Amino acid sequence: MNGIENKDKELIKWAFAAAGNAYCPYSHFHVGAALRTVDDTVYLGCNIENSSYGATNCAERTAIFKAVSDGCTDFKEIAIVGFLDGKEPEDYAYPCGICRQVMSEFCGRDFRIIVAKSENDYKVYTLDQLLPESFGADNIK
Ligand code: THU
Repeated sequence: MNGIENKDKELIKWAFAAAGNAYCPYSHFHVGAALRTVDDTVYLGCNIENSSYGATNCAERTAIFKAVSDGCTDFKEIAIVGFLDGKEPEDYAYPCGICRQVMSEFCGRDFRIIVAKSENDYKVYTLDQLLPESFGADNIK
């Protein structure tokens, strides 16, 4: 196993830890995200649902907003996991469109997105792969 794989597994472990705090009484779908900054700090996020469903915040945005509100905007990668109450992940939990757009505000095109079912079963994408031809700050200059 090489160094990158070890770091991926570590980040996935953190994402599972983050999912432990998910507040999801409506969907029962727990999502955890672990965001690594360029200086190797890890911010955790979980989904936070609301009885007014549209007020729900996804795990990825929770992690990103925690980091940005701490003054950190330089990110390297994020690991994401998702599973139903009391179950193992059945699938990879891909970031929703809004989270991809929020990533694109702060992250480079080579930002790594790790979607995992377990520490040993995961896929890695770049933001460019998951949000090609995106709208960004350059478009409104
Ligand atoms: N969810 C996330 O946390 N991240 C995503 O990228 C997609 C969906 C959450 C929102 C809601 O609490 C639950 O998953 C079901 O949609």
